[in-house]
Amino acid sequence: MTLLITGGAGYIGSHTVLEFLSTGQDVLVLDNLSNSSQESLARVAALTGRTPAFVQGDVRDRALLDQLFSRHAISSVVHFAGLKAVGESVRKPLQYYDNNVTGTLVLCQAMAAAGVYHLVFSSSATVYGDPADMPITESCPTGRPTNPYGQSKLMVEQVLQDLAAADPRWSIALLRYFNPVGAHASGRIGEDPHGIPNNLLPYISQVAVGRLPQVSVFGNDYPTPDGTGVRDYIHVVDLALGHLAALNYLQQHTGLQTWNLGTGTGYSVLDMIHAFEAACGHPIPYAVAPRRPGDIAACWADPGKAARDLGWRAQRNLAQMMADAWRWQSGNPDGYAGG
Ligand code: NAD
Ligand code: WQD
Repeated sequence: MTLLITGGAGYIGSHTVLEFLSTGQDVLVLDNLSNSSQESLARVAALTGRTPAFVQGDVRDRALLDQLFSRHAISSVVHFAGLKAVGESVRKPLQYYDNNVTGTLVLCQAMAAAGVYHLVFSSSATVYGDPADMPITESCPTGRPTNPYGQSKLMVEQVLQDLAAADPRWSIALLRYFNPVGAHASGRIGEDPHGIPNNLLPYISQVAVGRLPQVSVFGNDYPTPDGTGVRDYIHVVDLALGHLAALNYLQQHTGLQTWNLGTGTGYSVLDMIHAFEAACGHPIPYAVAPRRPGDIAACWADPGKAARDLGWRAQRNLAQMMADAWRWQSGNPDGYAGG
């Protein structure tokens, strides 16, 4: 049986494809390459000795999906495909709702028509909004996301909840990722954002290799130990392994389940800069700048439910996240474009 991985050429997708292939699972990737390069999958093939089937196409293309479900013996779907830049989503809401919400609706319609009911969905801690209590458990109420990206994730969660409630054949995992960072330990695959990075770790990495002059620390007057924002950074390989555990669970249970995928530990922006300096061996220039609109002070997971239900826990610590991010960035200063 084949696993369909939408968005499998992207950052989290490529690491997840690698881990599934390594277990012997057959994988078909559907990706429109709007934010990725097929080179990631070529490198996954070189690392695993197994080549995932690849189709360049859009998850909103129902005719293409019907063709894929009829040509391949697909038993389950891991759905990463979507747009993820918070700031861009404010400027281009229709693109975000179309890719993220319509994309998932079309995918679910095609799955139901093909009799495929196992779905793992990439959600985000952003659905919690600005939570009152830390750490965040899955039973914390969802908030009001401040941007169309976050809103699109919450909308999809609600659609999938209704779907699972309406039809007991569905087995659905909502995985709420905290802050994925790092790269595969080989240094051959990693995060390769187009243009100036929005997220902290790729920004620090690009300063470290000299592509950008300095990190702007967005605010040092938050109510946190050092005044800078605190997040739950999780190694992308640990995150990828969470998908294997979730899919395994879906094979034995129906209905919808929600799991936080985080480590349970928060680090500040300054912690991250200093940990990266330790990994790369030289100082990272930075300057304090105003707060970024929409940012919250602190956010970290209670990952206990995933541990209890899935037997999954993040294994890789901050030093490994940084060492692997640096190996990737220093070996591929221009990302996949460097060949
Ligand atoms: P990414 O941009 O690297 O990967 C997404 C992939 O989907 C890309 O390869 C892109 O080309 C593809 N894609 C986009 N729209 C598509 C469409 N309509 N049809 C087919 N392919 C399409 O992003 P990522 O960081 O790997 O994120 C993967 C998923 O995880 C996304 O759904 C994202 O919203 C979610 N997520 C990411 C983070 C994060 O910080 N990286 C956090 C929480 C949730
Ligand atoms: C982390 C911390 C910033 C950049 C976002 C999305 C979320 C999810 C993950 C997809 C914050 C600070 C950042 C910089 C800085 N994505 N920072 N200088 O904001 O927690 O989450 O990505 O689902 O939905 O909102 O991640 O990496 O952007 O920021 O000081 O140049 O670093 O203020 O405290 P965030 P991030």
